Amino acid sequence: MNQHELIEKANQEVERNREMVESDPYRLRFHLMPPVGLLNDPNGFIQFKGVYHLFYQWNPFETAHGAKFWGHYTSKDFINWEHQPIALAPSEWYEKNGCYSGSAIENDGKMVLFYTGNVKDENGDRETYQCMAVSQDGITFEKKGPVIYLPEGYTAHFRDPKVWKKEDTWYMVLGAQDVDEQGKVVLYSSTDLMNWNLLGPLTGSAMNQLGPFGYMWECPDLFELDGKDVLLVSPQGLEPEGDVYHNLFQAGYFVGELDYQKASYQHGSFTELDRGFDFYAPQTTVDEKGRRLLFAWMGITDDNEKYQPTIEKGWIHAMTLPRVLTRKGEKIVQQPVEELQLLRKNEVSYNEVQIITSNVTLEGIKGEALELLFDEIIYEGDSFEINFRGGARFEYSSKLGKMRLQRKNFKDGSIESRHCKIDAVKKLHVFIDTSSIEIFVNDGEEVFTARYYPDVADQTITFSALGRVQFDLKKWDLG
Ligand code: FRU
Repeated sequence: MNQHELIEKANQEVERNREMVESDPYRLRFHLMPPVGLLNDPNGFIQFKGVYHLFYQWNPFETAHGAKFWGHYTSKDFINWEHQPIALAPSEWYEKNGCYSGSAIENDGKMVLFYTGNVKDENGDRETYQCMAVSQDGITFEKKGPVIYLPEGYTAHFRDPKVWKKEDTWYMVLGAQDVDEQGKVVLYSSTDLMNWNLLGPLTGSAMNQLGPFGYMWECPDLFELDGKDVLLVSPQGLEPEGDVYHNLFQAGYFVGELDYQKASYQHGSFTELDRGFDFYAPQTTVDEKGRRLLFAWMGITDDNEKYQPTIEKGWIHAMTLPRVLTRKGEKIVQQPVEELQLLRKNEVSYNEVQIITSNVTLEGIKGEALELLFDEIIYEGDSFEINFRGGARFEYSSKLGKMRLQRKNFKDGSIESRHCKIDAVKKLHVFIDTSSIEIFVNDGEEVFTARYYPDVADQTITFSALGRVQFDLKKWDLG
């Protein structure tokens, strides 16, 4: 099928399923979702001529992975989003099994996309092409075809170009697997966006001080943050270790220094960006205000993906809230963008609430789409727990110096947990949507992101403490 026919078919799929998808009580109120089918990575995140563009990996025809399209949303304010026409459909020989992840830049007033053309040949063997597409208006794209072919030394797991400019040169990082099946991040440079020179691997498994560190690294993003070079990357193949790496795949960062001349990157250790269940393939951009902004896929590919309850209604997965990144020493801090405050309605405010027993509710603190801000938290006892709509439970144990998020496993309903160490929880900023939760701890020092599926009618938020806990609390309904 040609591009026009594929897009037509996808649009029909949206129309045919609209009523069913929209009838789902788990449709989110203030997060981006696919209109039908499966959404995964954020792609091409950019502010272009004042407007924020967020593209996304999209399979319109199934709630499973497949030949991906680039869906497209735009917004001026991160509150009101418009769904735009499909940007890329997998119609050409070099992308026939998917227009995979990539990024956007602005050059000479045009928007230029770089993405991976994924191809599977008759024997099921993979081929990969790094492709370019150009747009005058940021809405319709002209494909220019492959600009990078697979170099020697790597398998066809070579994808997800992220491009940026430093002085007069363009740079691109790619996620890769080398022939020894070690995950790597590879650097290219170009002066004209068409001809690219391979500068070499920057870091990866069995490189620098890392030792074995995964068989494939996906979706790299490299940028300067307050004088340091930060690499975000999603490695595959890390084993759980104590509190960390409990999701099937990880998403995290390194802080270091990139020597562009020598194409070498010196960095510290890998830190996960999120402590919850659903956070992968984050991508950033810098906006006109100079903010380093991030979206991530609020989902992950694992064995339980197929048990997500929204599949019954023809859709699956969503984006996280947009966040601002800053750096505190070696730590990357995430905060929800301030524009989200425009969603606030019906403020309820409490000073010096004291909790000393179990299952306490507070007048006016309930709902299915709301924001909670806990401040000035003081503990005299051992632990403090918040139960969200009977579907997710956040607990801080001052005794153990640990936080924990629990939810029901999508497959069998058993309770599953993610943990993270913390010295003291002083502040909690929580965004609860119909089927998602994002908890920013101590102004974004740590974040827990997860989907969860409570009983639809349950709007209760309850508090429990072992010993006395005191806090100030504000609540807003959102949406
Ligand atoms: C990450 C990823 C990318 C790839 C895309 C395909 O989730 O596997 O590496 O480009 O998804 O949809």
